[in-house]
Amino acid sequence: MKNVMLSPSLLSADFANLGGELLKIEQNGGSLVHIDVMDGHFVPPVSYGQPVITSIRKCTKLPFDVHLMVEKPEQSIPSFIDAGADYVTFHMEATNHADLCLDLIHKAGKKAGIAICPATPIGVMEHLLPFADLVLVMTVNPGFGGQKLIPYTVQKVRALADIQREKGYKFLISVDGGINPSTVNSVLEAGTDIVVSGSSFFSGELKWERQIPSGFSQP
Ligand code: DX5
Ligand code: ZN
Repeated sequence: MKNVMLSPSLLSADFANLGGELLKIEQNGGSLVHIDVMDGHFVPPVSYGQPVITSIRKCTKLPFDVHLMVEKPEQSIPSFIDAGADYVTFHMEATNHADLCLDLIHKAGKKAGIAICPATPIGVMEHLLPFADLVLVMTVNPGFGGQKLIPYTVQKVRALADIQREKGYKFLISVDGGINPSTVNSVLEAGTDIVVSGSSFFSGELKWERQIPSGFSQP
């Protein structure tokens, strides 16, 4: 039996009621809260930042995975850790200093995630995979909720799951974008450990307990 975790993305939550939305996550199978930070440069929109995270940190004991869609993450990683991140996930495409980012996160005693956009090959992470706690495969182009999963990204999940198994690496694989009842089985079969879901979770379409196929369980 393989454990798989649901990580609802707050981007699709009702921002006027974040406390209530966190309760919904707790009550509907969420194990990890996915928090999308967008800076208006790495991706066009601006979402929310450290003050919001500090504030919602008081509402739940669930761990926070802060998905940084920001340029030069090395400049803001410490402040997101102070705000309450348990995992900090940064984009390989957003920094020339990925090793430094990983180090900053680990030295603060937190878990480090590395993310790649759909067209970025998994090879760019080769030297960091032994040290990463999480690898986030974007299954849509980052920036917006409610997009369609890009089918070729599923092969990247499969290839990472092979590396994870063959080398005995500890990183968890997470998929982000376009996960709904029609696509979730393909990423679970490909070997993901974490399923991020925004629009499909908050619309009530993805019902996690009913969705988990045989052979998988939630922690
Ligand atoms: C997109 C974000 C996602 C987003 C996913 O850039 O990283 O986390 O919330 O939304 P859905 O699940 O609606 O595709
Ligand atoms: Zn995300």
